[in-house]
Amino acid sequence: MSETDRVRATMRAWAIDGYGGPERMQLRKLPVPEPGPRDVLIRMSGAEVGDWDILVREGEWPMGRPFPLVLGLAGAGTVAAIGGEVAGFAKGDSVYAYSYPLYQNGAWAETMLVPASYVAHAPASLDLTRAGGVAIVGLTAHETLTDILAVQRSDVVLITAAAGGVGHLAVQIATRIGARVVATASRRNHDFVRALGAEAVIDYTAEDIVAAVRTRYPGGVDKVLNGVSGEAANQVVRMLRQGGRMVDLTGSVSEVPSGVCVDREYVVRADGNRLAQVARMIDDERLTVEVQDLIPFECAPDALELVQAKHVRGKIVLEIA
Ligand SMILES: NC(=O)c1ccc[n+]([C@@H]2O[C@H](COP(=O)([O-])OP(=O)(O)OC[C@H]3O[C@@H](n4cnc5c(N)ncnc54)[C@H](OP(=O)(O)O)[C@@H]3O)[C@@H](O)[C@H]2O)c1
Repeated sequence: MSETDRVRATMRAWAIDGYGGPERMQLRKLPVPEPGPRDVLIRMSGAEVGDWDILVREGEWPMGRPFPLVLGLAGAGTVAAIGGEVAGFAKGDSVYAYSYPLYQNGAWAETMLVPASYVAHAPASLDLTRAGGVAIVGLTAHETLTDILAVQRSDVVLITAAAGGVGHLAVQIATRIGARVVATASRRNHDFVRALGAEAVIDYTAEDIVAAVRTRYPGGVDKVLNGVSGEAANQVVRMLRQGGRMVDLTGSVSEVPSGVCVDREYVVRADGNRLAQVARMIDDERLTVEVQDLIPFECAPDALELVQAKHVRGKIVLEIA
């Protein structure tokens, strides 16, 4: 075995020994996990960052794993080793994966171990580090729009936080289905969101969004994918037409008007098959991925500060290798 082929016995990883703030995060040397028969060990190039990583660090989204808990749930890299029963992947393949339920260590590490069912080949047209930012937002946008909301041609779909990670992919997926997309974003992101396919963009910082949507679509919209939290979500739900449906990604809606259906419990789960579909859409140029910043691996706490501020355009990705 050559030096480059050999899987090192230890890896650097961002881990916590207890729940809490950024002070809990430590860049540590930990053992590289051993693949079981159905597992894939990925040497990570890039890892996804989202505000959910703060929930994990603070213990508000329990992962059911012992400490030290390695943070990060998704990313992309190269297959370093595979279990004997794994088909469809080979050492050296470029892959990406989302690990939830979290299998072992997280993605903010030099290697991540996952079941093969969580893995897909990474989009070939995207730099592998940047591909690390796609899995969670890609799965979320794809599953909520195509399966849960079952968006149809000529539906009017409202997408909030449209310039963000989920939103910028959701605008494109809904537009490709043939839906009419109305989006919310601050003024500086309007050209960006329009270029992704939205027919109308509302500046939530300057307009009454309920009035703005009701003026354009007097009966209300057919479907909503909501990515904003807090009281704003209760405004968003009021824009649905009678019989309309919404997925509330933040679980913030507390007042559901009669005659509409709101899913507040959605949690995106690992799905290698769906990741393969998302990769195909990227390679066929049906989906473009915006990466605002690559943040060096050593600066993971800064990456979390950026997502916490809630004004990232597209994605923040941790650059591991
Ligand atoms: N339930 C699940 O399984 C699941 C899965 C994925 C994500 N999520 C949740 O869904 C939410 C969105 O995720 P994300 O990663 O796409 O977020 P994100 O990338 O952090 O969103 C950032 C974007 O939000 C926009 N924004 C901030 N406040 C806004 C407001 N009041 N109205 C409209 N836009 C606003 C910003 O645009 P401007 O700069 O223009 O303001 C920015 O572009 C997060 O809370 C995330 O945790 C849940």
